[in-house]
Amino acid sequence: MSQPSVLFVCLGNICRSPLAEAALRAEAEKAGLAIIVDSAGTGDWHVDCPPDARAQRQALSHGIDISHYRGRQVTAQDFRRFTYVYALDADNLRNLRRIRPSDGTAELRLLMDMVPGREGNGVTDPYYGDEAGFAVTWDDVTRAARAIVGSLQAVDRTS
Ligand code: 4NP
Repeated sequence: MSQPSVLFVCLGNICRSPLAEAALRAEAEKAGLAIIVDSAGTGDWHVDCPPDARAQRQALSHGIDISHYRGRQVTAQDFRRFTYVYALDADNLRNLRRIRPSDGTAELRLLMDMVPGREGNGVTDPYYGDEAGFAVTWDDVTRAARAIVGSLQAVDRTS
């Protein structure tokens, strides 16, 4: 199989999806899995902005520097370039279904559907909350990242 690629999409691309990107990069590296990982937002308010300072601190507390990440808006082309597009919540999933072009090949899924027992859940937006919300986000996206690594390893074994 060619190298799989994974795109995480939230609203602003400064809180949840950058943390999901960081978590999957870390989990894939631990597993020795070579994959392409990126993140984007359905909104355009934070294009070219670094992640929210609280998200940066949360990642750093796990030894990961995400200060060089920059916000970008998802495009129709992303559905042709990526193998998997994961929406961080149901609102973003709805918007992604609208943006998806008819020739898009990416598999579009709700992220927490990857985590047994959390199917149908969104990752709560921590933007309007306090620092503790970012720890919850990290926990959710790390569980999902581990599940993604497991499923990609399973695909790898059968191809
Ligand atoms: P994110 O959080 O979608 O997890 O990046 C948000 C960041 C910014 C805004 C909303 C959510 N905003 O409205 O600017």
